[in-house]
Amino acid sequence: MIPNVDNDSLVYLNGELVRLGDAKVSVLDRGFIFGDGVYDVVPAYGGKPFRMDAHLARLERSLAAIGIECGLTRADWERIVRDLIKDSGLGDCVVYIQVTRGVARRDHGFPEGIEPTVFCMVSPFKRPDAALREQGLSAIGAPDERWLRCNIKSISLLGNVLARQAAIEAGVDDVIQFRNGCLTEGSAANIWVVKNGVLLAPPRGKLILEGIRYGLMEELAAECGIPFEARPITEAEVLSASEILLTSATKEVLPVTRYNGQPVGDGRPGPVYTRLRAAYDAVIAAL
Ligand code: PDD
Repeated sequence: MIPNVDNDSLVYLNGELVRLGDAKVSVLDRGFIFGDGVYDVVPAYGGKPFRMDAHLARLERSLAAIGIECGLTRADWERIVRDLIKDSGLGDCVVYIQVTRGVARRDHGFPEGIEPTVFCMVSPFKRPDAALREQGLSAIGAPDERWLRCNIKSISLLGNVLARQAAIEAGVDDVIQFRNGCLTEGSAANIWVVKNGVLLAPPRGKLILEGIRYGLMEELAAECGIPFEARPITEAEVLSASEILLTSATKEVLPVTRYNGQPVGDGRPGPVYTRLRAAYDAVIAAL
């Protein structure tokens, strides 16, 4: 029995549906041995997947980036995700998809002729509630000590795990990471800054994971008439920002209202957040 999960829920493992409590992979799986795999997290609302195309396209990019061919087509992935959501009976939920290079004798180079391990599970999704949206998140700045290919949604998440733990130990919700003096992202989220009414984000590239909400926020900003610019953002600019926002599949879009122990702006969710939040909710409502 695995604590704190629904052991009876059905998960997809290598083409079969099995109970989570019974799902097993080999100790020689390269995901376990090397962290050699990629993943994605697709949120769903009322049983309907949100931006599934974009999530699956990113999964395919991550797989291609590390040279895993798992033979599943886009239609196969869509069916797996939709069937799992349906079987779960859940409304708001998140689908976790993971593909590792597979099982082989331990040796760093890619083994020939092995099958990737494909695993998908659905978990209940507790959306950020009104109190959290109103209160916002707290964060501290921290050096980005991860590798240099953060654009790949790798399951090797030790850097992200240590970053989140640093936040927990500091009594805040998350870290805002910096590399060479410039903003990268949170431990598992993209970070946005508002300066003089302009929404800023670090440029796409290898130093951040391009969230599915990255493109979405760009779209919503355009729709709301909020100017948007992707460019390097310094630590000083984050410190003096009028608003800081955080986005991810599970946090949706939230304001960061305290940074390094100080209020951000007036310490309350700002006007840019409020407009983008409403636009985000409208996209969910239209699903
Ligand atoms: N994380 N950056 C990092 C490092 C992330 O791990 C995530 C998401 C994001 C935001 O991506 P998206 O908007 O597509 O969720 C940015 C997921 C939710 C996770 O690891 O659970």
